[in-house]
Amino acid sequence: MKCNRRFLAFLLTSALAVCISAEEAVPSAEVQPEFKPTKIEAPFLEQFTDDWTKRWSPSEATKETKDGGEIFSYVGKWEVEVPIVFPGILGDKGLVVKSRAAHHAISAPLKNSLDNTNKTLVVQYEVKLQNGLECGGAYMKLLTESEKGIHAEEFSDKTPYTIMFGPDKCGSTNKVHFIFRHKNPKTGKYEEKHMNSAPSAKISKLSTLYTLIIKPDNSFEILINNESIKTGNLLKDFTPAVNPPKEIDDPNDKKPDDWVDNPKIADPNAKKPDDWDEDAPFEIPNEDAKKPEGWLDDEPTTIPDPEAKKPEDWDDEEDGDWIAPSVPNPKCDAAPGCGEWKRPMKNNPNYKGKWYPPEIDNPAYKGPWAPRKIPNTDYFEDSHPSNFEKIAAIGFELWTMQNNILFDNIYIGHSEEDAKKFAEETWVVKYKIEKEAEDKEKISDVKETPKSFLDNPVEYLRLEVNDFLVNVLEDPLSAIKQKPEIAGLFGGAAAILFTLLTVLYNLITSAKKPSAPHKKTDEPTPDDKDADKSVPHDDGGEGDNEGESNAGGNNITKRSGKKPKPPKDN
Ligand SMILES: *[C@@H]1O[C@H](CO)[C@@H](O)[C@H](O)[C@H]1NC(C)=O
Ligand SMILES: *[C@@H]1O[C@H](CO)[C@@H](O)[C@H](O)[C@H]1NC(C)=O
Repeated sequence: MKCNRRFLAFLLTSALAVCISAEEAVPSAEVQPEFKPTKIEAPFLEQFTDDWTKRWSPSEATKETKDGGEIFSYVGKWEVEVPIVFPGILGDKGLVVKSRAAHHAISAPLKNSLDNTNKTLVVQYEVKLQNGLECGGAYMKLLTESEKGIHAEEFSDKTPYTIMFGPDKCGSTNKVHFIFRHKNPKTGKYEEKHMNSAPSAKISKLSTLYTLIIKPDNSFEILINNESIKTGNLLKDFTPAVNPPKEIDDPNDKKPDDWVDNPKIADPNAKKPDDWDEDAPFEIPNEDAKKPEGWLDDEPTTIPDPEAKKPEDWDDEEDGDWIAPSVPNPKCDAAPGCGEWKRPMKNNPNYKGKWYPPEIDNPAYKGPWAPRKIPNTDYFEDSHPSNFEKIAAIGFELWTMQNNILFDNIYIGHSEEDAKKFAEETWVVKYKIEKEAEDKEKISDVKETPKSFLDNPVEYLRLEVNDFLVNVLEDPLSAIKQKPEIAGLFGGAAAILFTLLTVLYNLITSAKKPSAPHKKTDEPTPDDKDADKSVPHDDGGEGDNEGESNAGGNNITKRSGKKPKPPKDN
């Protein structure tokens, strides 16, 4: 009986909820714009339009570990698809890392290799961590032009890059890398220059915009979502430094044997004063102390226990002479003490200890020794590291535990203005929509019953209406009395609905013998389990995505992973 009623209430509330949320969903579907490729041009600009395979090729290389042991292939799958979480612009596809715990590599050549000499370089792209990120990279590599050309199928971790930029996270290590490779003009050797104090990446299921701007004066700036998070200088804020020191220690210079580097010595002229007694003891008996009155010199502190008796089975021959156990001498309890009185000790005012001569400045002291400086034969000065090695391709070469990392809207060029315009057309538009969707989901993820209408109007009404309907089905008249505002919610339709409900009620109650009136209860009972489970409490947060990243084994932070609605076609 109760089951039927509750189920019916659930059906009606669900219908109502659909009405309410459909009404809500419609406007956001209307503001969701359609994807249109940009007209902005750049040395490299990628929106993953349908002709993307003409530009991007996955790697077929293998990757060896440092010790040369294991060999991995870049088996990770790449896909170009619309987002599965919080889609922003309709039909807007991105490049997606599809495999968990796999090496991925893909690259796309530039039409013409990019020479940044005397120019500003802007590197900008979006990262959308649709499954969050516990351990994995999402950085981009700008591959260095080489004489033999860039062969996409051979792209690996060994492929020389000019710049590496973007998020990389594993456990508590969370960085936005900015590394550039710099050629030592003297030796021809390349060295990786790592930005000091790398800022943290933003771990978000929303599209996150990473921008790196490097100016010809060697200054650089990193922005996340158009917010400056790091500024610095290529010559000052990288390790190892671009330019080596002008002078170095002479490796052949040795500290002379007679070098005196003791700043102090014992004064050779000092003499122990005649009255200095090194043997004077630290403590002496205190002659002022007096034996307390009534001290019992002749009483021992302990006596054989007068009450103890030799056990019956004690055998003197086997067990030896029986000795009674000792107990404290009761006579001493009353007196200040028993036995031999000992004078207490006190500090000896004449104690001096061992005599040492005082220390004086060492007249032979030469100061700390340091090898002499000689000119650094490897010295060079590159005052324009911002004139990077020419860039011939863009690549992602990553390992990640979490899949479904989506990249989009890559801009590599020289115009801050264009990069900004491009972001305004793309990221700004989609981020707003994504953010709204996320905020909405956060609200519906709140599992507790909303306390007031203002907390969460939709959920509040759903619960109230459900409550009301359960009561209506039980006792229509008192339900309306109890919650007139909910009855009023139905407005003009209330009467019709009420009639409908009454008819339904009668149908149900007449089908079976009416049960005795029972108390309304929210406690789940065995027979209404199903209805209860699906009744208003939105059980968000346990979507497919969540399950997948959990399977990776180290997804600690629970993020909302509700399965998103697929984008609507109309
Ligand atoms: C870059 O600027 C420097 C100094 O202004 C100039 O000497 C050099 O020719 C420029 N190089 C190019 C390739 O424009
Ligand atoms: C970034 O923020 C600045 C203001 O700090 C604004 O002028 C600019 O339009 C913003 N750009 C984007 C792409 O949102």
